[in-house]
Amino acid sequence: MTARFIVLEGIEGTGKSTHAAYLADWLAKQGQPAVAAREPGGTPLGERLRALLLDPGISPMPPQAEALLMFAARSASISEVILPALASGAWVVCDRFVESSYAYQAYGRGVPIEQVRALDRQIVGKLRPDLTVILDAPPELGLARKAGPEKKDRFEQESLKFFERVRQGYLQRAREGGGRYIVVDASRKLAEVRKDLVTAVGQLLGHKASRDN
Ligand code: TMP
Repeated sequence: MTARFIVLEGIEGTGKSTHAAYLADWLAKQGQPAVAAREPGGTPLGERLRALLLDPGISPMPPQAEALLMFAARSASISEVILPALASGAWVVCDRFVESSYAYQAYGRGVPIEQVRALDRQIVGKLRPDLTVILDAPPELGLARKAGPEKKDRFEQESLKFFERVRQGYLQRAREGGGRYIVVDASRKLAEVRKDLVTAVGQLLGHKASRDN
C-alpha cells in the first residue's frame, strides 16, 4: 500500500487539530503507520516561525512577509517531515498545508493570488495531497468555539469579515480543485464530522488504484 498524504484545512474552530490527531490514530489502527504534521510548525524552524507569525505583538506584519514566512515554515515541513514520512511508507495527516496560504494570504489578506501560486510552484512543486478536506463552518461559530480566557493570537484577533473571506477562499479553491478536495460541514457535532472523515479516508485506503495516476 502506497502512503497517502491527507490535509485538513479550515478556519479557526472547525476542529482540524482534533480530527487530524484522530485520523492519524485511526490509520494506525488500520495497520497504516501515520505521521501527524502541522503548519506552520512541526520542525524547529517551523515552530520558531509559528511563534513569530502568531505573536499579536508583531503588528502590522506586511501580508507578503507573512506569506513568505508561511512558505519558509512549509519548506522545512516538506523536507524534514512530509517527504521523509512518505518515503518511509507512512501516511501523513497534516493540519493545514498550502490551501491555508491561498485562503488566508490571498483571499484574506489580499496578496495577489499569482504570488501565492508562484511560491506554491517554487516551494511545494509537484507534491500534492491525495486528499484535502475543507472543514467548513460559519466564522461566527468557529470563533465562538475558540473563545476562551487565553489571549487571542494575531489571526484570532481578525474580524469576522476577514474569516468570511478566508472561508469563501477555501470554498472557491475546493470548487476549482476537483476530486482531490472535499468540503465537510464542520458545524455539526464532532462525531458526525468524524464519521465523514473516516469514510473519505477509508475510500482512499480501499481504492488506491484510482488515485495512483
Ligand atoms: P492554527 O493552525 O493553530 O489554526 O494557527 C495557525 C494560523 O496560521 C491560522 O490562523 C492560519 C494561519 N495560516 C496562514 O495564514 N497561512 C498558512 O499558510 C498557514 C499554514 C497558516
